[in-house]
Amino acid sequence: MKKLIIGGAAIAILGYLGVVGYLHQFDKENATQLLMENRYTGEQEKVAKALFDNSCQYCHSPSTPLPFYSKFPIVGDEMQSDIQSGLRASA
Ligand code: HEC
Repeated sequence: MKKLIIGGAAIAILGYLGVVGYLHQFDKENATQLLMENRYTGEQEKVAKALFDNSCQYCHSPSTPLPFYSKFPIVGDEMQSDIQSGLRASA
């Protein structure tokens, strides 16, 4: 029984670290791609980079690709509603 609990905890921790690592990579690729696609200049680029590096675009831009779990029920719905309110506060 104890082994089972420890095993379960180990799997949970590995899963958690996996998602965090995946997201780190996902965010970085996303930021780089957005910067290249949009061809910002000078000051614009600095502001855009700060926003992308901090992942603000997920809620404050309508066209940002979302990580895989955005397709899940409940979690995904919550994300969509955050994006809707975030968009209301943008532009
Ligand atoms: C998880 C989604 C999410 C992320 C990520 C996010 N925001 Fe927001 N943001 C919101 C929502 C939702 C609102 C609207 C809050 C409201 O209407 O009460 C908002 C509002 C704002 C506002 C307007 C505040 C106001 O009083 O009108 C600013 C400025 C802002 N966000 C900047 C940022 C910046 C900068 C980042 C990145 C560091 C960021 N946000 C990341 C969801 C997000």
